[in-house]
Amino acid sequence: MHNGKARAFTNIALIKYWGKKDQQLILPMNNSLSLTLDAFYTETSVSFSKDYTKDTFYLDGQLQDEKATQKVRHFLDLARNQAGIFKYATVCSQNFVPTAAGLASSASGLAALAGACNNALKLDLSPKELSRLARKGSGSACRSIYGGFVEWEKGNSDQTSFAVPIASNHWEDELAMIFILINDKTKEVPSRNGMQRTVDTSSYYDSWVKSADLDIKKAKDAITKNDFHALGKVTESNCLKMHATTLAASPPFTYWSPGSLKAMNKVQAMRQAGQNCYFTMDAGPNVKVLCRKKEVEDIYHELQKDFPAEQLVIAYAGKGIESLEME
Ligand code: DP6
Repeated sequence: MHNGKARAFTNIALIKYWGKKDQQLILPMNNSLSLTLDAFYTETSVSFSKDYTKDTFYLDGQLQDEKATQKVRHFLDLARNQAGIFKYATVCSQNFVPTAAGLASSASGLAALAGACNNALKLDLSPKELSRLARKGSGSACRSIYGGFVEWEKGNSDQTSFAVPIASNHWEDELAMIFILINDKTKEVPSRNGMQRTVDTSSYYDSWVKSADLDIKKAKDAITKNDFHALGKVTESNCLKMHATTLAASPPFTYWSPGSLKAMNKVQAMRQAGQNCYFTMDAGPNVKVLCRKKEVEDIYHELQKDFPAEQLVIAYAGKGIESLEME
């Protein structure tokens, strides 16, 4: 029996990962940059045993069906190959989210699974190697190995594509992110399919890749200078450019719902009224608002005029992956 457990926090990209150049290895087209957050995390334990006759996956205590187990099994195969240990596994994952609004994240989920496998199979991976392994489960997971600001260096091979922490002098501790949870879901296009359709068909895709490289530079410069407005501006414009690529895909699609637009308009109106906040959005309708910790209460209060408290979640900068003892 080989057992291991780990906890990983989710991360939100300020400069997005949007498109792969290698779908098998999960090598991205562009570098991305994220902030790891404290409010959402996953704890995962894994046991490999010769007595098991198949891989089994429990999420929040519920046995998962074949479809939901597929991504986990694919990842277990990678870890088993790396360890040279070929035993079936039981995986138990618990998502810790502040509300029941379905905010599960593949970033924290796959990072925690990578950490649990590293411990169980005694792979003894360095953070860089763990980031590479997590990347092959889900791209964004490679960034959740570290806390604070993180850059995923795209690389051009399995060896050279991994995340690294960005030196920031702990500036992230002065920032906050408010999630506006939007429930009026549009037709779901999973991020994996959405980004591939965009790479394959969007006439805006080349410009996206070019401008993402420039945005990375701007964001890193803003972090070095602790320049909140510069970081906010590039975060919001990078997000809008990513979402523009989906409208130029064939068939076109969007992650924006009426509620997302209401939230984005609200943030822009607040800014015009002098409040310091910027938004970003991922492959779903929720809107995330970047602000400074010292202003988070005022901004929360203003958002509450349009969105009920159940739809608002405040998060701060979070830590990197942690190993846990098995109970
Ligand atoms: C829009 O990491 O979920 O959130 O690598 O296919 O598993 P796969 O995709 P995933 O994509 C995340 C896309 C994004 C932007 C980001 O997190 O950088």
